[in-house]
Amino acid sequence: MPVPKPMRWSLAAVLVLTTASGCGSTAAMTTVSSPQRGEIGIALPTTTSARWVGDGESMQRQFELLGYRTDLQYAEDDVNKQISQLEQMIAEGDKALVIGAIDGSALKDVLAKAAAKKIPIISYDRLIRDTPDLSYYATFDNYKVGVLQATSIVDDLGLKKGKGPFTLELFAGSADDNNATFFFNGAMSVLQPYISAGKLEVASGETAFAKVATQRWDGKIAKARMASLLSSTYTGKRVDAVLSPYDGISRGIIEALKEAGYGGSKALPVITGQDAELDSVKLIVSGEQSETVYKDTRELAKVAVQMTNSLLTGGKPEVNDTKQYDNGVEVVPTFLLQPVNVDKSNYERVLVDGGYYTADQING
Ligand code: GAL
Repeated sequence: MPVPKPMRWSLAAVLVLTTASGCGSTAAMTTVSSPQRGEIGIALPTTTSARWVGDGESMQRQFELLGYRTDLQYAEDDVNKQISQLEQMIAEGDKALVIGAIDGSALKDVLAKAAAKKIPIISYDRLIRDTPDLSYYATFDNYKVGVLQATSIVDDLGLKKGKGPFTLELFAGSADDNNATFFFNGAMSVLQPYISAGKLEVASGETAFAKVATQRWDGKIAKARMASLLSSTYTGKRVDAVLSPYDGISRGIIEALKEAGYGGSKALPVITGQDAELDSVKLIVSGEQSETVYKDTRELAKVAVQMTNSLLTGGKPEVNDTKQYDNGVEVVPTFLLQPVNVDKSNYERVLVDGGYYTADQING
């Protein structure tokens, strides 16, 4: 996927594109003397998920190469803490804000304060809703993430070859994260025809987004729901597939399944995921999780850094979607990157050859 070409480009920026690498690694970088351009505030949701740590490190590295200082803050899924962090960044005179929101609808007031000071705001990965103050949005094709997850269920079960009927349970992400609906709708666009045709049966009857959402993407909540579904619905039958929107949720689901006797002679169901977190890649190698959707956070960081730098140097960031992401107030100009399905057949090529993990990290 090509990265957007900025309108005005410095030597340092070109070097960022050619040298930034490593998920969460401290890759050696070419040093370039750049002018000191002020501080960028980066507000991310949590360090409990490895991907956000990688996003933060990549952005820090790339901004610093361009001559910016960074103030990287994680709010550990505490919405008020994230608002205070943003207030602090605005008070300190940060030149721009890059925000991965916890609750996408809770930042309107604090962003109005930033806008009053003409501070550009980039919505990072998750769309911030109900505000007129966003400059741009950098993310992956979120609908496609769900399509990839559901397609892997269809393929692994052999539904296209006419196999079935099979049982399926559905999990979605956090209802306050705009992405969660996109993932779920993308997945249902593929699964619903099979459900309607009786080839997939959601035996619990729980198919509404509100019913299957998982607050704050919490694996423990997902584990408890899976355990309860198994004891209420699956005493006399097996569950054949589970749609899970994110690796941390998938690991909770797998724990519940194993505690209920799956994983030995009773095979685990097909289970999806997202983010290519190391712990889940290991489960893919061992055959416990079926797939994950890989989103190269190094690339997303590049897009956000380029957007920000372009705005701060008088350029106009490149976008490739001006239709899909309506935040309730306006359609936010967006750059979408492409997610990639990863399973046992291609994880080495995509993740190891692509430099995201080393083989030792995965097999160690
Ligand atoms: C979503 C994000 C996913 C996953 C999830 C849980 O917003 O797009 O990649 O990280 O949050 O953190």
